[in-house]
Amino acid sequence: MSKAHLDPPMAARLLEPGPLALLTSRFRSAENLMTQGWLMTVSMDPAVVAVAIHPGRLTHEYVGRSEFFGLNIPTADLLAAVHCCGIESGRDGDKFARAGLTPVDAQEIDAPLVEECVAHIECGVIERMTFGDHDLFVGEVLAVQAEEEAFQERWLVEVDAGQVLHHLRADHYAALSRPYRARLPEDD
Ligand SMILES: Cc1cc2nc3c(=O)[nH]c(=O)nc-3n(C[C@H](O)[C@H](O)[C@H](O)COP(=O)(O)O)c2cc1C
Repeated sequence: MSKAHLDPPMAARLLEPGPLALLTSRFRSAENLMTQGWLMTVSMDPAVVAVAIHPGRLTHEYVGRSEFFGLNIPTADLLAAVHCCGIESGRDGDKFARAGLTPVDAQEIDAPLVEECVAHIECGVIERMTFGDHDLFVGEVLAVQAEEEAFQERWLVEVDAGQVLHHLRADHYAALSRPYRARLPEDD
């Protein structure tokens, strides 16, 4: 897949419609990934994003220790893998192998990326906060890449390649398929 290298502020545009991500992490030589639904943009300049991770996840341990994480954006063709990575733990075996996904080197972070995903956001942890049952890891965006068939300044949700996934509940998921262009009432 040929992915365009984008400026860090484009991380906000990649996260704009609230897509699910596969969060990748590495501690020493052990690599893991988990499905991440709670994620958001915090700042455009500098580009900063945040993810909420429960302390019980293996991912929490790896991100807490390494202070790096990758956000890899999957599309609808990866639904089974996304669901698997959200209900099974890396403590029970190699989840990349289990989900049929391929770890590849990142540009800037000491964590793998998921080759099959159409976009990647590489982050270094700059802050960590606890409000309740999840911990918020705030990450400075260090590198961004996106597949041009899927993303050109915005997600191309009208084509298969741009069908990023959203979580509804339990094993129910959805993809956006119809973009609308807004006009003001006086333009009609
Ligand atoms: C759609 C979906 C979204 C999820 N979002 C989050 C999340 O934002 N934060 C979190 O801590 N766990 C989330 N989970 C749960 C973890 O992905 C799950 O507990 C996973 O097995 C943890 O794997 P690990 O122990 O290998 O890190 C989500 C699960 C699903 C199915």
